[in-house]
Amino acid sequence: MIRAVVRGIGHYLPQRVVTNQDFEKTLDTSDEWIRTRTGICQRHFASDGEKTSDMAVSAAREAIETSGVSPNDIDLIVLATSTPDQTFPSTATKVQAELGMCQGFAFDIQAVCAGFIYALANANALLTARQARRALVIGAETFSHILDMRDRSTCILFGDGAGAVLLEAQDQAGGRQDRGILSSEIRSDGRHRHLLYVDGGVSTTQTSGFIRMNGPEIFRHAVEKLAESSAMAMQKAGLTRKDVDLMVPHQANLRIIHATAKRLGFPHEKIITTVDKHGNTSAASIPLALYDAQKCGKLREGQIVISNAIGGGLTWGSIALRW
Ligand code: ACO
Repeated sequence: MIRAVVRGIGHYLPQRVVTNQDFEKTLDTSDEWIRTRTGICQRHFASDGEKTSDMAVSAAREAIETSGVSPNDIDLIVLATSTPDQTFPSTATKVQAELGMCQGFAFDIQAVCAGFIYALANANALLTARQARRALVIGAETFSHILDMRDRSTCILFGDGAGAVLLEAQDQAGGRQDRGILSSEIRSDGRHRHLLYVDGGVSTTQTSGFIRMNGPEIFRHAVEKLAESSAMAMQKAGLTRKDVDLMVPHQANLRIIHATAKRLGFPHEKIITTVDKHGNTSAASIPLALYDAQKCGKLREGQIVISNAIGGGLTWGSIALRW
């Protein structure tokens, strides 16, 4: 059977680092409050003029390089972002042009912090349906541009960055030892859209708006839904908790990550966390965490990974894959 197998990975983080102490200068907050409530110590913010597409291209180039393929071998780009360069055309088509890709097709996915899980699930469906052979799946965000810097309950949470994986359709035996994406589980429930949203938009205010959030309610939904969808993805793939080598979750809040892992019965040493140094980079957080895990030797070929994410909408989901 055809599986979507990871061949390469890339990342990009803007140079500018903003620490919790930096926020202490302008807001009624403290490093201690931010660290204990969220686990975040610092985040990266894009510099003036640095766009989502610039970061996506840098991450994509590294993913292509580590795969040993050329841009002309790629025929699909799925780019998850809620902070596109423009309302249209899609940021994905901009990346396609920048990479010098003249074939295939490219499109954006908007599922906020669950964007990368949605993008993986969609790319997997297209690859296994033989609609494409090699896909760049990118998460890229400049959330710093939609932060209300006077709102201490949201602006301290987010950061900018991009991550990308190159997926290739490969023939596999169809058994437990297969590499690649083993299952996906994606969900949404628009009844909860008021819990996390941006108070602007093209057809409403004609502005891009700022993030507004009911933090405690999001927290409650997050743990419950992430644990449930991860369990479903494991069940679909025929995996038990003991088969899983690593959980690489969306990086929103250390307490959400630990509470979800506890419900799933994963010990701390199986959890990858980067929220301390990246903050919440929305759709970019999972590929950035995968990159980090591989770089430090925790994520190796053949290992089983569960990734899960939840974001505005609400949207959420999980992926089980063998690296
Ligand atoms: N510094 C100091 N005090 C603050 C800050 C801050 N940066 N932000 C809020 N407070 C205050 C509040 O004003 C409130 O004060 P009050 O009691 O006098 O009214 C107090 O801290 C407690 O506020 P809560 O919102 O109840 O704090 P909580 O413990 O829930 O932590 C947080 C807030 C960190 C946002 C938490 O609710 C959370 O992590 N929720 C999940 C939301 C999330 O991660 N969203 C990201 C996007 S969605 C996603 O990616 C999953």
